[in-house]
Amino acid sequence: MTSTPRPEPLAATDARLRTLAESLTLEQQVSLLTGADVWSTRAIPEIGLGRVVLSDGPAGVRGEDFDERHDSVSLPSGSALGATWSRDVARRYGQVLGQEARRKGVHAILGPTINLHRSPLGGRHFEALSEDPLLTASLAAAYVEGVQSMGVGATPKHYLANEAETDRFTADSVVAGRPLRELYLAAFEEAVTAARAWLVMSSYNSINGTTASENDLLETPLSTEWGFDGVVVSDWTAVRSVEAANASQDLEMPGPVGHWGPALVAAVEDGRVPRARITEKVTRILRLAARVGVLDGFEPAVAAPAGKYDGAALAREAATRGAVLLRNEGGLLPLDPASLRRVAVIGHNAEQARTQGGGSATVQPRHTVSPLEGLRKALPADAVVHYSRGAKVAEGLQEFPRMELHNPVGNVPGLRVTFLDAAGAEIGGEDRLASRLVWFGAGIPEGTAAIRLDTVWTAPGAGLHTIGIGTVGRVRLSVDGAEVFDDELTDHTNVLGAALFDPPRRTLGVTTAAGGGVALSALYRLPAGPGIPLTAILLGEETMVADPEAEIAEAVENARTADVAVVVVGTNAAIESEGFDRQNLDLPGRQDALVEAVAAVNPRTVVVVNSGSPVLMPWREKVAAVLLGWFGGQEFGDAVAHILLGTAEPGGRLPTSWPAALEDVPVLDTTPVDGRLVYGEGIHLGYRAWLKQQAAGGAAPAYPFGFGLGYTTFALGAPSLPAAVDVGGDVEVSVPVTNTGSRAGRAVVQVYLARPDSAVDRPVRWLAGYKDTVLDAGASGTVAIRVPARSLAHYDGGWQQERGVFTVLVGRHLEDDFQVAEVEVR
Ligand code: BGC
Repeated sequence: MTSTPRPEPLAATDARLRTLAESLTLEQQVSLLTGADVWSTRAIPEIGLGRVVLSDGPAGVRGEDFDERHDSVSLPSGSALGATWSRDVARRYGQVLGQEARRKGVHAILGPTINLHRSPLGGRHFEALSEDPLLTASLAAAYVEGVQSMGVGATPKHYLANEAETDRFTADSVVAGRPLRELYLAAFEEAVTAARAWLVMSSYNSINGTTASENDLLETPLSTEWGFDGVVVSDWTAVRSVEAANASQDLEMPGPVGHWGPALVAAVEDGRVPRARITEKVTRILRLAARVGVLDGFEPAVAAPAGKYDGAALAREAATRGAVLLRNEGGLLPLDPASLRRVAVIGHNAEQARTQGGGSATVQPRHTVSPLEGLRKALPADAVVHYSRGAKVAEGLQEFPRMELHNPVGNVPGLRVTFLDAAGAEIGGEDRLASRLVWFGAGIPEGTAAIRLDTVWTAPGAGLHTIGIGTVGRVRLSVDGAEVFDDELTDHTNVLGAALFDPPRRTLGVTTAAGGGVALSALYRLPAGPGIPLTAILLGEETMVADPEAEIAEAVENARTADVAVVVVGTNAAIESEGFDRQNLDLPGRQDALVEAVAAVNPRTVVVVNSGSPVLMPWREKVAAVLLGWFGGQEFGDAVAHILLGTAEPGGRLPTSWPAALEDVPVLDTTPVDGRLVYGEGIHLGYRAWLKQQAAGGAAPAYPFGFGLGYTTFALGAPSLPAAVDVGGDVEVSVPVTNTGSRAGRAVVQVYLARPDSAVDRPVRWLAGYKDTVLDAGASGTVAIRVPARSLAHYDGGWQQERGVFTVLVGRHLEDDFQVAEVEVR
């Protein structure tokens, strides 16, 4: 008889981990607490400890390099995931990421980003899920479960109150205890307590006067109340002092040089940091190593991860499930493909879609599908698609499209990179595909003094083009063998990683003949001396428009006789990215004028919005349909085409209120005053703030939280629920749902609570539970939604429940004509 070995009890594993941690010398212990390099922890082969590799995250897994040859699946942005309102999609999203991580030798993913959508101006809004803590918490937990089911760690970030980018390294978020618990901590809680995240990332900012990596919040509630037994990793450079080692900050990233190392050894030796603190951190790092399978003698958390997931299929599904249809006059959508002879596709983003946001979240997918391409593929062969750009969106230098580049050395597509030593001799080289090249801590051979890029670029059309180079440092550019400049490009923004995010540029005009190639050679000289090991060089073209009015006029002519005009509008990397906040919510360039002009000549105008966060749509009532596609990931264009042509329905609901005007937005500010960003709205964030403002006679948003149309309609019946629950009890609500339309579809049933006569200040109403269901045309079903006791509680030095009657509102969005019931807490 064979017997399966029983897993070792957790307490025994813990004891062995601690003994192992204690067996290390102080120097060995401390060496584990700062990264070995930019992306991994130190290995100690003598004890069978391998390195743990960490990688961004959160909508794809980049791996240890930024090399486009090692491509990554690019999933829709966090805001799109938030709009799915689907734990099932979030779990599978996590599984695809976990699978990607394993493929790339990554042990922990730096995501999900679960800061709240506090202000729509927030630069990283696109990365985060929602303005609501319950929706965020439940999707984040499902994401974490998905990643970790693959034996890979997930890292909810950025803990805590990191809702803006302005002065992001120094800003102090000032947040009162109640909103801290009910909103910002609540967003993280389930990922730790239920999904048992193996890591959490501490943020750059301070919270109530103490920087995150030294903040007591790392201990309470994270460790004490929530039982977090994983690793607190700092955001990159967020450890600011030796003293941070006295806090529950475990791992300093990146390395190898930081504030800890020898200074921390000295601090332990002279008693400023207790040795027990160090041993505790080391135990946690060993526990993580054991979980991800890089510590000999310990079973990994998941021995053989199940499943083989199709990343592209999930990317497409998440993009369709997250797309929110805000308007569909006269049921224009879905279009009947058989009736379309001429389709006008308009907009810069239709051709150059933004499929992901800028900053550390960026990955390099093998391909992306633009809406133009998606529509061309999906429409019947006899439908003519005519494209016009209409208005310029992308600003500044854009990487050359890969098919326009030819590597003269290898005689293959792309470009040749040559590494040169100080004497100008070749010491290495590689054939690359993309003209935006990034080396961060790896990939540049020892002894390199300069890097040369050679390519032959074939412009898409004859005429004058503006091309150039973006980088920080000394660079020389030659065009067809003649030197055109040799300059020092200096970064004045002082942003960490400016070379990557927002490099200074030099451009020049080049006139090309039809089909003729231009030989480009760039020589970049590496700076001498220490600094962050980041080299980023961008060769590319800038879109120039001689006559913006003529571009609009051309699009109008295109739209005038078309059976339908699809206008794709959106943001660009210069206004929506990590590293800075937005100044306003306007669509860049002449896009508003473009939509107005097109809609004026074609009543069948559909606008697809390609942004990661809210933008103003002053024309929204003049067009037939509005579809929000977010940053839809690599399969974005397919998802858009399937939705417009009705092979998929738009499944999304707004995870965040969508304003009509900037001045209406109740919580807007992202700029610290004297270093402090005061969260003065307290618990009234997002739709809670809008409701409070509306109650006082102020403006409502253009589209409320939870809103989104499908291609069918649903009726909700009277909910069944208990008349009363004891303090601490959950409330089970069951809701009859009928599909009253003529095709199958998905309903997202939302339960809100209200407490009009409360003794405590409360939101007008708040989301307390949700669940989706798919029903055939005419079919009925019942949706069971559990309202957790926590949704009936408020924080007042501890979680409290006010006895008495709560109103239960069941609907399809925040402002629906609700089914109303009551429950008494006794
Ligand atoms: C970002 C993090 C990211 C880290 C590593 C930081 O600048 O804030 O979200 O994980 O860089 O790239």
